[in-house]
Amino acid sequence: MSKVVVSPAEKFSLKISEIAPDKSISHRSVMFAMLAEGTSVIENFLRAEDTMNSLQIVKNLGAKVLDTGDKIEISSDGIQESFEVLDCGNSGTGMRLFCGLLSSANGHFVLTGDKYLRSRPMKRVTAPLKDIGAQLDGRNNGDLAPLSIRGASLEAFDYTSKIASAQVKSCMILAALRANGVCTYTEPELSRDHTERMLKGMGAAIEVNGLTTTIHPMKKLLSPLSIRVPADPSSAFFFAVAAAITEGSDITLEGVTLNPTRIEAFKALERMGANISYEMKENKYEPIGDIRVQYAPLNGIVVEENISWLIDELPALSIAMATAKGESIVKNAEELRVKESDRISTVVEGLRSCGITVDEYEDGYKITGGKLSSAQVDSDGDHRIAMSFIVAGLQCGMEVTDLECINTSFPNFFELLQKITNIEISGE
Ligand code: S3P
Repeated sequence: MSKVVVSPAEKFSLKISEIAPDKSISHRSVMFAMLAEGTSVIENFLRAEDTMNSLQIVKNLGAKVLDTGDKIEISSDGIQESFEVLDCGNSGTGMRLFCGLLSSANGHFVLTGDKYLRSRPMKRVTAPLKDIGAQLDGRNNGDLAPLSIRGASLEAFDYTSKIASAQVKSCMILAALRANGVCTYTEPELSRDHTERMLKGMGAAIEVNGLTTTIHPMKKLLSPLSIRVPADPSSAFFFAVAAAITEGSDITLEGVTLNPTRIEAFKALERMGANISYEMKENKYEPIGDIRVQYAPLNGIVVEENISWLIDELPALSIAMATAKGESIVKNAEELRVKESDRISTVVEGLRSCGITVDEYEDGYKITGGKLSSAQVDSDGDHRIAMSFIVAGLQCGMEVTDLECINTSFPNFFELLQKITNIEISGE
């Protein structure tokens, strides 16, 4: 099994323009291209396992894809039945959004994924889709992949979701675009809104009013997408934490999406005491710009609101919390239990093995800040757990095993980390 040994870092000052492109936007860009007339052009597509799987799936669904390396051009004559099983790999976003896209397509489709994805709950999308006439099934009564879909005619809906999930919302918006009437989707808290922004930019009739999104069925194909994918704030955040816990450090992360539903973890780190500034440089589909993070001593905080805005960054934020003065509490974050790993237990166990006192709750944890000590931590196949504990190693040294998962979202992570400290990677 692969292993990295990370050495403690000295203070650093860096500008990074090569943070991995945004995963959420990359997935969506290739899927939404299938709803357009003409050729969509995608620059800076994330070439990581999760998103390359989505690109392969749209090819399997008949899209014509021209990949020149610099950009990807996609055109489609409509979704075709696939000869292949559609493999989403590790990606919940891939699987849940394809459910929405394929529920009304002509034909029969099978979606699967790796052993982690095949254990994650899918009823959150299969149940509301079945309620509007979709023909979907899967193991455990439609909750677990592999999932099968036979495209069907979908009824209009007014759906209120109990969870703030952009994956469920996006799935239902995609279904609504081809339903038999105007649909509404209401969520308990605003989740990331890339789907709404991108589809509106392509000409879809979507209105957002507070927590309710109204979707008018497509009367014709949408305009093609022309997008340069910004850097992923969830990936950038590992380096933000690196600077925030390494005395005297200063880092600028360039070309990141500054979408408010994505930068809440930076706001939390700011509340802890780090000096953070944002400079907007452009605005196409989303605001995009640079984030600068400068070290300052950190204090504990409570995180209990807008959880879906920082759900993916909580493992890395927890490393900052473990080094902060005083207690930090994370609440209302039960969704962490159904991510790529049960991130409440992987964070709690990992921090405890680094000598930190942590109390575990059903929906979060309490971390008593202290001094991290060097340990051996296994990622449990979860990319964000692997990268979070590697970043912890910048303070105390660390050995982290099971690293292949990092390729699902941030293939050049180690290349960038080497600008900060020495690392030794071994194993296959
Ligand atoms: C994502 C939404 C979030 C997030 C995931 C990506 C998306 O999941 O955790 O990494 O691209 O829509 P939920 O919407 O299920 O919370």
